[in-house]
Amino acid sequence: MAVATENPLLVRVARYEWGDSEAVIAVRRSVGWSGDTVHDQFRRVAEGRRLVLVAEYDGYAVGTVSLEWNSTHYRTIRGQHSAHISNLVVRPAHQRQGIGRALVEAAEEAAHARGYNVVTIGVDQPNRYARRLYERWGYQWLKDTRQHWGVVHILARRLPSPRW
Ligand SMILES: CC(C)(COP(=O)(O)OP(=O)(O)OC[C@H]1O[C@@H](n2cnc3c(N)ncnc32)[C@H](O)[C@@H]1OP(=O)(O)O)[C@@H](O)C(=O)NCCC(=O)NCCS
Repeated sequence: MAVATENPLLVRVARYEWGDSEAVIAVRRSVGWSGDTVHDQFRRVAEGRRLVLVAEYDGYAVGTVSLEWNSTHYRTIRGQHSAHISNLVVRPAHQRQGIGRALVEAAEEAAHARGYNVVTIGVDQPNRYARRLYERWGYQWLKDTRQHWGVVHILARRLPSPRW
């Protein structure tokens, strides 16, 4: 793992790589999500297409999110370069403490530092709770996509002008 940042929650957000995949799988399983996609996520990290961020509390992985900036689906939105946030999950025992927000902010900062000025996030249609959270965090509905498991809403948020 590399490059960690601190935030007021005393949660450390770190970038994870291949060797850390078991921790990410465990966080996903805590909310009933499969770990099947995790190796593919880390393959994209190794290819330089994605970041996997993990929130650690007292050295223990309590949440994760990923940011992809080389996705053909999300690359340009109305002429703007966009990066895509996905796979946001926080262990149930650690939810409602601001960790999800801290992870999304860390992903937004990473996108901003790479020169992106729009960030998108996908949320499955039935997940109204997550959609409401994202809207509170400044995301607005952009479009719907149909995946094999159902409709996914794509929300977008404009970031300040990138630092070049
Ligand atoms: C969606 C998810 C990641 C949110 O994570 P989280 O860490 O609970 O998010 P936050 O704590 O930043 O915000 C959640 C709520 O806690 C509140 N909160 C934040 N800090 C708080 C604190 N110190 N005290 C009390 N409440 C607090 C927020 O205001 C927000 O309130 P609301 O639900 O009334 O709107 C989490 O619920 C989760 O893992 N769900 C299952 C997986 C999932 O659906 N992922 C999203 C896929 S699109």
